[in-house]
Amino acid sequence: MNLLDNAVKYSQQEIKISVEVKTIDDKKVIINIKDNGVGIPRSDLKRVFRRFFRVQGRLMSKVKGTGLGLFIAQSVISKHGGKISAESEGEGKGSTFTIQLPKA
Ligand SMILES: Nc1ncnc2c1ncn2[C@@H]1O[C@H](COP(=O)(O)OP(=O)(O)O)[C@@H](O)[C@H]1O
Ligand SMILES: [Mg+2]
Repeated sequence: MNLLDNAVKYSQQEIKISVEVKTIDDKKVIINIKDNGVGIPRSDLKRVFRRFFRVQGRLMSKVKGTGLGLFIAQSVISKHGGKISAESEGEGKGSTFTIQLPKA
């Protein structure tokens, strides 16, 4: 929910979000959540998972948030034996979050 909420919150006019779920070798589930929003600077791609971290100094800093969502998401995913990562081509170029979980 936080990933979808972020995808909407950190987008501007025409919001486009895609969610893709695929399984690999019947062992792993990969979930990709991609948006066409403001993007994330390369230097912050790892930091966004830190407690209370929010990307600073841009228009979107007016958007309300606590900086806790991705920290909590990462903690939960990690306790399920999975991992989460962020990718972005840069500011204004959208973001993609990838979750990998072991299949039950
Ligand atoms: N889809 C996204 N597009 C651009 N920036 C994002 C996206 N998701 C997260 N971020 C950045 O990562 C920060 C941390 O996200 P999160 O932990 O969910 O906190 P919050 O949404 O409360 O700010 C956000 O404040 C934002 O700067
Ligand atoms: Mg959030």
